[in-house]
Amino acid sequence: MTPHKYFIVTATAPVNIAVIKYWGKRDEVLILPLNDSVSFTLSQDQLCATTTACISPAFTNDAFWLNGKEESLENPRIQNCLKEIRRRAKESCSSCGSEDDITSWPVHICSANNFPTAAGLASSAAGYAAMVVAVAEVYGVSGGDLSVAARQGSGSACRSVLGGIVRWYKGEQLDGSDSVARQVAPPDHFGELHAILCVASGRRKKTGSTEGMRRCVKTSLVMNMRLTSTVDARTKNIVKAIAEKDWSSFCDLTMSDSQEMHAACLTASPPVVYMTDTSHAVVELVHEYNRVVVKEGQPQLKICYTFDAGPNACLFVPAAAVGQVMSLLLKVFPPSDHCTLDTYLRGLPCPTPQLIPSLEAVSLDLINNFHSANSPAGIKLQYFMHTTVGEGPRVIAKESHNNKPSEVP
Ligand code: DP6
Repeated sequence: MTPHKYFIVTATAPVNIAVIKYWGKRDEVLILPLNDSVSFTLSQDQLCATTTACISPAFTNDAFWLNGKEESLENPRIQNCLKEIRRRAKESCSSCGSEDDITSWPVHICSANNFPTAAGLASSAAGYAAMVVAVAEVYGVSGGDLSVAARQGSGSACRSVLGGIVRWYKGEQLDGSDSVARQVAPPDHFGELHAILCVASGRRKKTGSTEGMRRCVKTSLVMNMRLTSTVDARTKNIVKAIAEKDWSSFCDLTMSDSQEMHAACLTASPPVVYMTDTSHAVVELVHEYNRVVVKEGQPQLKICYTFDAGPNACLFVPAAAVGQVMSLLLKVFPPSDHCTLDTYLRGLPCPTPQLIPSLEAVSLDLINNFHSANSPAGIKLQYFMHTTVGEGPRVIAKESHNNKPSEVP
């Protein structure tokens, strides 16, 4: 054994936000969903997970660090991802059985997110996708479909191995071999599309997605209706809206699906509550904004919201609407006194606000409504994260030291 041999790879992977939600499993171990889902991949310039994977015959065991802290590798989800990648590495391995059989070398994995973990910002999706891409690359697994491996870490992670608009097919096979993600359209399909995350809370959510969806499947009548009669039809319709570049229908279907998922949550027993008064205030603002732009004959400026398992809205906003949407948001949700604009508006810079007069009225109406109907102190955002729709994972660094530098896997 030569202790100084190693291969090391660093990869980044994006967050994805579903517009048709994955909510409910048909197999909890293989992580197979009860319905197809569709998502947008977000740009990695603002939000991404970074994973470095290093293999060496000098390591005595596999090890894993998340955000600087060593974590147990007992987690069956991580184990399943690693198993799947090593199985593939062995299939395509030319050195198997020899002293240089890299598939038997242990792996050390370091992962970090540049955004809150478990805050409803799809951190596990980006994390597992980055891990799968880095580990596959370090073991020399080239090509092939990495969505199946990422899926076994966290369902939604399978959509983060691709960019643009992505569909995860639920598949029919018991072994999950046809439960894969595919790109439906590139990032610029709807022109330049921005995403504004309205972060109401960066804290860990009370009920994790796995438990939330399990409870809905077992107890919620709305969930039953979703699975038997609405979500498949909605998926078909959104795929049609994408193919026809029908942005207005796309927005309506996205918002309906988010509402349905959260209605399923509220009708579970005990209820699963993710949205807060602040979330509902964002919903109201989006509907008011859309009503005005449609009335003014500009449906191409419509926007839509969607909420994952948390209180934070993700708004999809056409580039031409970003200035006015941002200024509307700032009027209705001003930063609190101790918050500077720099820490309140994160990510991409916002274009100069150009609030059109009819939208001034919208914001005044909403502010008055919130003040009379709710406690205004409770309706607060922590910050906005401004980004765009983006590309899939990237391998950003590769290095080897094996006395034969040309043999980087
Ligand atoms: C609301 O992928 O986190 O974000 O497969 O149990 O790890 P597990 O669940 P996870 O669920 C994501 C749920 C969602 C909707 C979505 O992303 O489609």
